[in-house]
Amino acid sequence: MVDSDFARELLAGLARRPRAIAPKFFYDAAGSSLFDRICELPEYYPTRTELALLSLHAQEMAECIGADADLVEFGAGSSHKIRVLLDALPGARRFVPIDISAEHLHDAAALLRVDFPWLEVRPLAADFTRPFELPPLAGAPARRVGFFPGSSIGNFTPDEALGFLRQARALLRGGGLLVGVDLVKDPAVLHAAYNDAAGVTAAFNLNVLVRANRELGANFDVSAFAHYAFYEPLRQRIEMHLLSRCTQQLRVCGHDFEFAEGESLHTENSYKYSVDGFRALAEQAGFEARACWIDDRRWFSIHWLAAPT
Ligand code: AVJ
Repeated sequence: MVDSDFARELLAGLARRPRAIAPKFFYDAAGSSLFDRICELPEYYPTRTELALLSLHAQEMAECIGADADLVEFGAGSSHKIRVLLDALPGARRFVPIDISAEHLHDAAALLRVDFPWLEVRPLAADFTRPFELPPLAGAPARRVGFFPGSSIGNFTPDEALGFLRQARALLRGGGLLVGVDLVKDPAVLHAAYNDAAGVTAAFNLNVLVRANRELGANFDVSAFAHYAFYEPLRQRIEMHLLSRCTQQLRVCGHDFEFAEGESLHTENSYKYSVDGFRALAEQAGFEARACWIDDRRWFSIHWLAAPT
């Protein structure tokens, strides 16, 4: 276990200042379930808003995607959103959902096969922030289209997002990318979305410690850490932290660490974009920013980015 990515990155992240761990480690089976519950929260508007945009504009989006596409979803989770598109895309050949949480991914793939028997579903359990290869497609090469919903792109810094988009642009040459992007808005709305009254986001944040205890034999006292999330307007991002409630010692994989009272473990950034700012970033990565769908409150956007040959 000490040689897992999680162990390596947690040890390195605890040794660094400020202390940090990448948000991809939230998603063990329990974390993926907690995230599904976040998506249902009254305060968490992104999922609902994006799903409404997908339903309302599925036909136009299907036209951008084209018939016979080979669909690749980055961070597919429970694969709910692709269903809306698939209903408008009877010609899609194959769906490759990529997710870091293998169990969650395979459960979701089995459910998709039941409802879309004509579709070849080829799940890929992988960390899409690292280089990966798509499973080979039988028959003639198809047009490749990426699907990256939920504003998961907001977990990257703008620089990392540019790097990701450049890689995606190479992978999707001749096709394109449909990507959901959360927008800058009233900080009160953002604050509520990451500080829900039911405490599900807090449990999701703290679960990374529960996971470390279980998988790495760490001895975090979960009740000695507090969920802290706020909007940082200069960088236009939500930051999530776990703050130590007291001075405490702890052990992870045979290494000792001390947390001072109030010290932070930075667990997530969630960047918000302006429509023009995101389109400029996509163009910088070599995409052509084409259609863009936005809700009436201008809270969330979905972009069609064409990847020229
Ligand atoms: C999955 C990265 C899009 O940033 O809103 C939700 C994760 N974190 N609540 C987000 C999350 C806290 C989510 N993303």
